[in-house]
Amino acid sequence: MPTRIDYDAKIPNNVDLSSNRRLQRALEGWQPKFMNWWAEMGPTLETHGVYLRTAVSVGREGWAHFDHVIPQDYRWGIFLAEHDPDRRIAFGQHKGEPAWQQVPGEYRADLQRLIVIQGDTEPASVEQQRLLGLTAPSLYDLRNLFQVNVEEGRHLWAMVYLLHAYFGKEGREEAEALLYRNSGSPDSPRILGAFNEETADWLAFYMFTYFTDRDGKYQLGTLKESAFDPLSRTCEFMLKEEAHHMFVGTTGVDRVVTRSAELIREHDTLDIAAHGGIPLDIIQRYINFHYSVSLDLFGSETSTNAANYYTSGLKGRWQETRRKDDHQLTDDSAALEKPRPDGTWGTEEIQAILALNLDLRGEYIADCHTGIKRWNKILADSGIDYTFRLPHPGFNRAVGINSGYHITPDGTIVDEQTWQDGKKNWLPTSEDLTFVRSLMKPVYERGKIASWVAPPSNGINGKPFDYTYVYLT
Ligand SMILES: [Fe+2]
Ligand SMILES: [Fe+2]
Repeated sequence: MPTRIDYDAKIPNNVDLSSNRRLQRALEGWQPKFMNWWAEMGPTLETHGVYLRTAVSVGREGWAHFDHVIPQDYRWGIFLAEHDPDRRIAFGQHKGEPAWQQVPGEYRADLQRLIVIQGDTEPASVEQQRLLGLTAPSLYDLRNLFQVNVEEGRHLWAMVYLLHAYFGKEGREEAEALLYRNSGSPDSPRILGAFNEETADWLAFYMFTYFTDRDGKYQLGTLKESAFDPLSRTCEFMLKEEAHHMFVGTTGVDRVVTRSAELIREHDTLDIAAHGGIPLDIIQRYINFHYSVSLDLFGSETSTNAANYYTSGLKGRWQETRRKDDHQLTDDSAALEKPRPDGTWGTEEIQAILALNLDLRGEYIADCHTGIKRWNKILADSGIDYTFRLPHPGFNRAVGINSGYHITPDGTIVDEQTWQDGKKNWLPTSEDLTFVRSLMKPVYERGKIASWVAPPSNGINGKPFDYTYVYLT
């Protein structure tokens, strides 16, 4: 298994694709369809080169190759993390057995489903973000958008490779369907709700890359534990790319908050809309929205599917190997907070094996708190008396035990009327969205930045902020 990526091949890869002619031909048949999809559904802004990172090998050193590339000429390919011939299954009923190099017949349908669901999210986000290039606040931001987009395109390639290589005719059909479904399409929408929402402005983009890409990180983390080794190795490599997406989100929100704080101090008012900044309460409502729709991606709190995936070894827990238990979960239990019809909260004890979605969601929530903390620190350091909060996990939910209830950000269960009256304080209103959109004017002069966001503290790959990250003419 060569670690170096073969860039001479039509499809760059480190999976020795040329030794499997049938597979190579099938993927070469899918490639023009992908290119059509990119042309139709990918970024609308045309450029003459974007300063992009391309992986040249999957090892630690192969990561820092940067060059100006025209996005449609990006070398999308198939890269798996290095093969560990001694890898063993870390959990479930097959714990201790060698990892699978082929798909066991009895798990074929489930594995295919997991790969399709993951694969569906990748092109979806490119579709959601396709207009953002028209209004980027700086060339630096524009470059980051393209980097995220080409990598999500590559993640689609990663899942399509697995479908083609291991799931035969059905897998090839699913690979076609991944290009056929589209975000927000009334007839053939993307599978998961959050991936049908529009990413209409750059604050939404930063929130999406903070909250929704972070869900992706946790999902990939569970698939990285999979007994099916090719899936595990694929996800391991995707996680490295995903880290940059979350960096874009974290620092993006940092920079919006920083700029808002500057304007609040400068004009001595929280009402900074007239001064071209985004008021803190609008930022809070964006947090509430993006966080709550991202929580839906974790599925129901109790899930027999998740339990079966775990027992069969298809999908593990976040950092499975670092957990100090039997990795079977036959006797463990978990506590589930549940809304009750009388408007109070109750706690139910459930088997840990049934609460795996809840377990993963808990890891995710803890991680999200770190963002809230850093944004609050920016405010505190500026002497501004305002605190961002993550809403209660039951707030604004469409999936799971909370979905039949109206729950406020502080966790109060309320009736329909109270919910309708309070909503404007909790979720972005159409006025909020219109206002944020009104700020979205492209700033494409080298070294310049829009009024509503601070410049980054560092450029990309050691380049300064005023570097020409994108050639537009
Ligand atoms: Fe991705
Ligand atoms: Fe991502």
